[in-house]
Amino acid sequence: MTITGKTIVAGVVGHPITHSLSPVLHNAWLQAAGIDGVYIALDVDELQFPNFVNSIRASSIRGLSVTIPFKEQALALADDAHPRARRARAANVLVFNAGGEIWADNTDGLGLIVALKDQAPGFEATTGPAVVLGAGGAARGAVGALLDAGCREVRIVNRTRLRADTLAEDLGVAAYDIGDLQTVLRDAALVINATSGGLSGAESLDVPLAVTPQDCIIMDMVYRPLKTPFLAAAEALGRQTVDGLAMLIGQAIPSFEAFFGVPPPTSVAVRDLAIQALEL
Ligand code: ATR
Repeated sequence: MTITGKTIVAGVVGHPITHSLSPVLHNAWLQAAGIDGVYIALDVDELQFPNFVNSIRASSIRGLSVTIPFKEQALALADDAHPRARRARAANVLVFNAGGEIWADNTDGLGLIVALKDQAPGFEATTGPAVVLGAGGAARGAVGALLDAGCREVRIVNRTRLRADTLAEDLGVAAYDIGDLQTVLRDAALVINATSGGLSGAESLDVPLAVTPQDCIIMDMVYRPLKTPFLAAAEALGRQTVDGLAMLIGQAIPSFEAFFGVPPPTSVAVRDLAIQALEL
């Protein structure tokens, strides 16, 4: 790859960032598409994020993917945003236009739906209730995406009931106690772990996956490790599983298009590349 004066620059910003898989995905796509572009990882001090973002307004940096812990701040710094980002109260994509304005989007929910389509092709959002474990930003995005996909019933279960209630009220869904998990799971069509720290979160929620119907789909938004204990437990029960890497790739597809103007080429085995990078 030759970097020239015309090379389009985009990147991912977070803290920490060195383990991000996003550069692997985007650069493989750029290369395969023959686009004169580069995608880099940028670590930014937590207190300096607004300064950083504002300083690249009207620069030649085209856009940024945003990850932990900056997604909420990213939305707040934008001049305009897609309604789905506002509803998620978080942005994972910032696009900088030549006039110095920032457009925010949230493609995490799109990624979740892509992941379901990829790894659970038979899934229909209308089949039955979806259970979301967690009530943070990740859960908020998941609930929005499920509602957009046509899911008629979403149930939130969270360690801290009050947070579940707030999220449920905001998005017009229902919250339940952890003590009700057995009942909540018994007729679930889909269960998504959106707790952070993922495996530890879902494990410490002590999710009785065995009570789910045999055709219930179990998804984990965590991808490190690729097969989390939560997914391993689901697999041992014979349930179909969807992993967090499929979602990460799913969110990167519309993000790439937002930065480089074309969808990424489908010819690249980005999942294999990401798995290799995960193993490093
Ligand atoms: P994110 O933006 O990634 O969703 P967050 O807003 O910090 O992160 O939310 C983390 C979620 O994981 C919350 O639902 C949290 O539960 P609480 O609201 O009770 O804090 C959940 N979580 C984190 N660690 C957990 C654990 N060990 N057991 C159960 N839930 C956990």
